[in-house]
Amino acid sequence: MEYLDFAIELARSAGDVLKHYMDREKQVELKGRANLVTIADKEAEALIISAIRGRYPSHAILAEESGASGPYGGGEGKWIIDPLDGTTNFAHQYPFFCVSIGFEQAGNLLCGAVYDPWRDEMFSAQRGLGAYLNDQRLRVSDVEELRAALIMTGFPYGFRDKIRLAMGQFEAFLLESQAVRRGGSAALDLCYAALGRVDGFWELDLHPWDTAAGLVILEEAGGKVTDFSGGPFSVYGKQILASNGKIHEEMAAVLARSNLQS
Ligand code: IPD
Ligand code: CA
Ligand code: CA
Repeated sequence: MEYLDFAIELARSAGDVLKHYMDREKQVELKGRANLVTIADKEAEALIISAIRGRYPSHAILAEESGASGPYGGGEGKWIIDPLDGTTNFAHQYPFFCVSIGFEQAGNLLCGAVYDPWRDEMFSAQRGLGAYLNDQRLRVSDVEELRAALIMTGFPYGFRDKIRLAMGQFEAFLLESQAVRRGGSAALDLCYAALGRVDGFWELDLHPWDTAAGLVILEEAGGKVTDFSGGPFSVYGKQILASNGKIHEEMAAVLARSNLQS
């Protein structure tokens, strides 16, 4: 639990930074057409990285704003960090954002912490030891059919080049599920599936820092995470299909049909 405890501590401290800036000047800059970064992303990331460097100098780090550093190949462990997942929400004072910290060793994601400082909700999981929201053990929902399911998704910053594919998938899920939500924080979307607040999630072109912690949390809550066709998922891959397990095949079938039509 040493690494998980540290991830939780770091996520809480970085979350305090985000909360501090929520009603202050955020120094918003553009990284792309609609891809934002703020002073809070940068300060939260710097805080996390300096703490890891101090405690585990031999570990590698992969962080959204500063990229990869440390021993090539991951060394004795690799920390995968999104200091602020949901930057667009944050920049608009829309309270759905979090800090996400995952820990990988020898290619396996061992633990993760996702902290929503606005609601003071700490999601965490250690491989084999279950997933938690604060002290509450997490379990995915019991919804058995897509027609009764609440589904989440998101759109990558590069969606303009894939608008037909993205809209085709969105349309198909709108027609076949009970409802679809676009939250704006992939890490929280995965945690909401772990908690049973939603039943499934899919998205194109996410990055390792968006999914590393949420993956462990959802799997430890009994959920299933694959690529769009139901094959093995990698945080370094480009497709994520996540669910309570029970609606997984139906979701994969919807994606297969909409991909054929786009
Ligand atoms: C984004 C959020 C969003 C997802 C985007 C991500 P960021 O991360 O997770 O929900 O739809 O694809 O890039 O930029 O806010 O850290
Ligand atoms: Ca992100
Ligand atoms: Ca981010």
